Amino acid sequence: MRAFINPFFSKNTIESLNLSKTRKPIVFPWQILIKTKAVALNPHDLNVLHGNAFSLGLLRKEGKILGCDVSGSIIKKGIFANKFKKGDKVFAMINPLIAGGFSEYVCLNFWNTRKIPSQINTKEAAAISLVSLTALNALFPYQNSNKSILIIGASGGVGHIACQIALYFGLKVTAVCSEKNRKFVESLGVNSIISYDKEQIGKRRFDIIFDVVNTYSNNKFEDNLNPNGNYIYTYPNKNMIKTHLKNLIKLKFNQKLVLVKYNKNHLDLLLNLIENDNLRVNIQKEFSFLELTEGLIELNKKRTIGKLVCLLD
Ligand SMILES: NC(=O)c1ccc[n+]([C@@H]2O[C@H](COP(=O)([O-])OP(=O)(O)OC[C@H]3O[C@@H](n4cnc5c(N)ncnc54)[C@H](OP(=O)(O)O)[C@@H]3O)[C@@H](O)[C@H]2O)c1
Repeated sequence: MRAFINPFFSKNTIESLNLSKTRKPIVFPWQILIKTKAVALNPHDLNVLHGNAFSLGLLRKEGKILGCDVSGSIIKKGIFANKFKKGDKVFAMINPLIAGGFSEYVCLNFWNTRKIPSQINTKEAAAISLVSLTALNALFPYQNSNKSILIIGASGGVGHIACQIALYFGLKVTAVCSEKNRKFVESLGVNSIISYDKEQIGKRRFDIIFDVVNTYSNNKFEDNLNPNGNYIYTYPNKNMIKTHLKNLIKLKFNQKLVLVKYNKNHLDLLLNLIENDNLRVNIQKEFSFLELTEGLIELNKKRTIGKLVCLLD
């Protein structure tokens, strides 16, 4: 099979990813093997490629296949994967620490794989898992809490899904995006918008701040939180780790770093949201499998509106 492999001793740049021939993965009894139809691109792929984990290079995966959001059809299944049959069209987020999605064939564990609902197509199915599970991980505790939330980075992959989930949970959503993306974010139904290139957040206060841009320091927004408010972020820079640790020492527990992972309740809710047309994923651009590195270069500009996906034959 063909897969994009991060070679050993490479410069860990997007250009160093090679489309190479490798053996199909072995299917364990709890797994299914799919022929990949679509794979979504995520900043996580770049973080792993560049070895950025908390700036320590912890995630670097030389000799490995990146990519963790896939959809495709089943060609083989293990004996414990009995709720599926060959030919089923499925989607899943592969454990980001394992990955393997930039490949013509991928093994998925049966418990975190679902059949693609009729409401979405193959490419939407590939694009929706990781960002939705991230947003659900952050927002699940606030269902029906009637709180106000500021979502910083509302037009991106996680942000545009988080806006919809927050609204579904009954939160009052203020979204931060650029003026050029205002119309897109408005179309998500948010309650109000702050264009970051035209106005400041100023003295406005919120119960929750969900920061998916992560370029600021996390005490920057301290004055924008209501008493007992929570600041949630998705990728720590060095400054953020320092502030978070200092706050913990002061017994201030109002900061949370979200790390996406499989959660059955979250996945069931995601399926429910899709089946009831309460969630839609915006695919800004599609690439062919051969153009995967071009897609990653585009993603690396950090200007994506929704998601980028690669389609396989
Ligand atoms: N911890 C986890 O488990 C986890 C999971 C998923 C993602 N993440 C992290 O979360 C972050 C976001 O991921 P993503 O997939 O949403 O990225 P993305 O889709 O690449 O984000 C791009 C979006 O960010 C917007 N943006 C950039 N700067 C902004 C600013 N200053 N204010 C408001 N919006 C801004 C851009 O809009 P403009 O062009 O208008 O600026 C663009 O729409 C990444 O750092 C990723 O690594 C972490």
